[in-house]
Amino acid sequence: MGESLHTVTTLPTARQPGCPFDPPAELVDARRHGPISRYPFPDGHQGWLITGYDLVRSVLADSRFSSRKELMRHHPLIDYGDIEVPPAPPGEFLLMDEPQHSRYRKPLVGRFTVRRMRQLTERVEQITADHLDAMEKAGPPVDLVTAFAKPIPVIVICELLGVPYEDRGSFQDQIDSFLGGEGSEEEQIAAYTATQHYLAELVAAKRANPTDDVLSDLTDSDLTDEELRGISLILLAAGFDTTANMLALGTFALLRNPAQLAALRADPALTDRAVEELLRYLSVAKTFMRTALEDVELGGQTVEAGTTVIVSYNTANRDPERFADPHVLDLQRQDGGHLAFGHGIHQCLGQQLARVEMRVAFPALLNRFPTLRLAVPAEEVGLRPETADIYGVKSLPVAWDV
Ligand code: HEM
Repeated sequence: MGESLHTVTTLPTARQPGCPFDPPAELVDARRHGPISRYPFPDGHQGWLITGYDLVRSVLADSRFSSRKELMRHHPLIDYGDIEVPPAPPGEFLLMDEPQHSRYRKPLVGRFTVRRMRQLTERVEQITADHLDAMEKAGPPVDLVTAFAKPIPVIVICELLGVPYEDRGSFQDQIDSFLGGEGSEEEQIAAYTATQHYLAELVAAKRANPTDDVLSDLTDSDLTDEELRGISLILLAAGFDTTANMLALGTFALLRNPAQLAALRADPALTDRAVEELLRYLSVAKTFMRTALEDVELGGQTVEAGTTVIVSYNTANRDPERFADPHVLDLQRQDGGHLAFGHGIHQCLGQQLARVEMRVAFPALLNRFPTLRLAVPAEEVGLRPETADIYGVKSLPVAWDV
């Protein structure tokens, strides 16, 4: 490679002021030094940070890198001490390797195909229209996160899974508490436990009275109650926080790029491409971790067995060797192939669903409110800390002419 090995000494907990859409400067800088850097974890472990597109892809496609929860460090930014991490509970296949991973993913794949998700489009349009009606009725200013970006994906995933309507509010709050990256560790554990209790009851209810939804369908298989609970948790957790943050942060990014926004308003046929570019540009699922199961040569370095590798999707999606002018939001961009949904066996199961939601929600919002704008100065928009698994805005006050 000919490049000296770079060490990132601390990972940032916030973005650069005035650059809410760009990966933290330390990560971009690490990429500049080369696609792989040393990263000493806060607990002392000597890990690696992968920031280049090609290397990120190759790690994600390589079964010598494990997703098993019990092998992982707790968090790249937080030192939780010497707590032993148990294996992922049955069903939580995001944090498993083969063959366990396939046992859970396989029965789900047919339910998340492009065709199945397209069939959902009309329902997503209806849910979106209902929320726009409510926003219009309330009048400006409104918080786009609570009025639009969050409830739409929550309702969609809850309907798909079969969570009854009346349970959705409290359920959303619980999931928010353990995904939001804020609140004490005790609060997050309490919210996680409450969610587990709720899902146990839901699985029992579906077994007793199957309805027309994914969870009821899955009760007709050899999966145990515990496994069904784990699968449900993964689908819910993965299925709304990501999309909600894409909708809110994506709107923020469009409002800050008026020429791009105008191009999208002028040409609805640009929507599909715009969604892909926003996915690349924002990469809200920003980093994941893998553990080397054996010594692996990577980018001219030896990643020793047992070492944790942080895979940075957001810098890979801004890699100048892969994307021209990577830090520019260009809705007309032709070079596809972003990694916002990951790659390899864990590539996002719900990506077609997320696409349907975004392809419906962005244009509907822009059409309904042609004068949509931020209701506060851009610098006052509250951003999620880097300790949150998914990046985004805490709230997004918006207004429009009435
Ligand atoms: C824009 C929205 C979304 C983004 C950016 C996103 C991103 C991702 C990424 C990067 C991964 C790979 C994680 C890894 O490499 O370890 C993933 C996995 C996953 N996503 Fe998504 N996701 C989104 C929406 C959804 C939705 C709507 C669902 C609903 C079902 C979903 C369900 C899942 C599941 C179940 C996995 C685990 C797959 C596996 O381990 O085999 N995601 N997602």
